Amino acid sequence: MNANETLPATMLAVGRRRYGGPDAIAVVERPVPAPGAGEVLVRVATSSGNAADAFLLRGEPRLIRLSSGLARPSSPVLGRDVAGTVAAVGEGVEGVAPGDRVHGETDGAWSEFAVLPASVVARVPRGIDLVQAAALPLPGVTALQALRLGVSGRRDAAGEASASGGASDVPEVSAGSEASAGPDASAAPDPFDALAGRRVLVTGASGNVGLLAVSIAAAYGADVTAAASRDRLDLVRAAGAAGVVERTHPAADWGRGYDLVVDLTAQRPVADLVARLAPRGSLVMSTGAGGRTLGPLPRLASTALRDLGTRRHLRVLAAKADGDDLRALDRLVRSGRVVPVIDGVVPMADAADAVRRFEAGASRGRIVLDATRLG
Ligand SMILES: NC(=O)c1ccc[n+]([C@@H]2O[C@H](COP(=O)([O-])OP(=O)(O)OC[C@H]3O[C@@H](n4cnc5c(N)ncnc54)[C@H](OP(=O)(O)O)[C@@H]3O)[C@@H](O)[C@H]2O)c1
Repeated sequence: MNANETLPATMLAVGRRRYGGPDAIAVVERPVPAPGAGEVLVRVATSSGNAADAFLLRGEPRLIRLSSGLARPSSPVLGRDVAGTVAAVGEGVEGVAPGDRVHGETDGAWSEFAVLPASVVARVPRGIDLVQAAALPLPGVTALQALRLGVSGRRDAAGEASASGGASDVPEVSAGSEASAGPDASAAPDPFDALAGRRVLVTGASGNVGLLAVSIAAAYGADVTAAASRDRLDLVRAAGAAGVVERTHPAADWGRGYDLVVDLTAQRPVADLVARLAPRGSLVMSTGAGGRTLGPLPRLASTALRDLGTRRHLRVLAAKADGDDLRALDRLVRSGRVVPVIDGVVPMADAADAVRRFEAGASRGRIVLDATRLG
């Protein structure tokens, strides 16, 4: 381990010792984790909230308890998105060093320190602050992978890249490439160029993943239609949507002939979304929404089964944290083509209130949690 700062033995974190709603959230004391080989210890400055945090807080859909702990959470600390400075690196880590500003995705992010695999870490480029940096990893990489799956159809339900493509299709940018200003800095062909002129529908467009999906697709020249509730239509328009669907309006026209539909909700039946595709269009099923026991599983299975009987491409996304994808997203943000939408910054100790606001659908963009005021 190569540390440039003396680390305390313990740290404060935000989590829960039982499954429940926001009332179950408490500040807990934990040992500061040590980075193993290939890992990076980050002093967390900021984090943010995702749909996944709410699922893990409640232990619902119950299916997730198979991995998160049957009777009680096996790991008390919540949170996935991390932005901060490297405190120490484990053996074999190259490209980042103590003191670097980084961001990435890991378990236990609502904490003063978090350990991340080096493979999911990206240095935060100049021009992106640590509030924006906390808003990007999980939803941004998900949005990017959903759009890539939509234009290439190359990643299967298990998230495995096929021989012809996958994550490596994103132009490579080294961890030290802060100087590259735009998404086209690499000479390699950019798979997202295929979005230009395509008609794309994003459901759940006003949420964490949705706003970034709209913004990225629009940045590449797609003609984006965004479905959102009435009081967030301004948000999705500002993100780059050329057309909007007021999703709660019973007479709303959801449109037809889409080259790509990215579904982040469970509002419309799968068959209805498929019928809205152009003859060779793609549906990327990305939702985690569904019933309290099985969650999205029936909807994902239905999508995969329907793919067998159609010339359209019906795909299920299993997004995976990825440093290369995060760097690609950073380039888009740094060039100003994609702008993360921030609802506000609150102390991490107030995470329960942030979750209440998120679950009530009251947030407009990312709620960023400030870990520097946790103690
Ligand atoms: N496939 C993957 O690997 C992967 C990775 C990450 C996330 N996800 C999933 O992607 C989805 C979006 O995640 P997120 O973090 O962006 O969540 P989010 O911020 O809560 O956004 C979801 C949006 O859906 C809309 N919505 C809420 N209830 C709805 C309903 N009953 N019917 C239709 N729309 C509704 C809301 O906006 P309006 O009220 O304005 O419409 C909300 O902003 C989640 O289901 C999450 O589990 C999947």
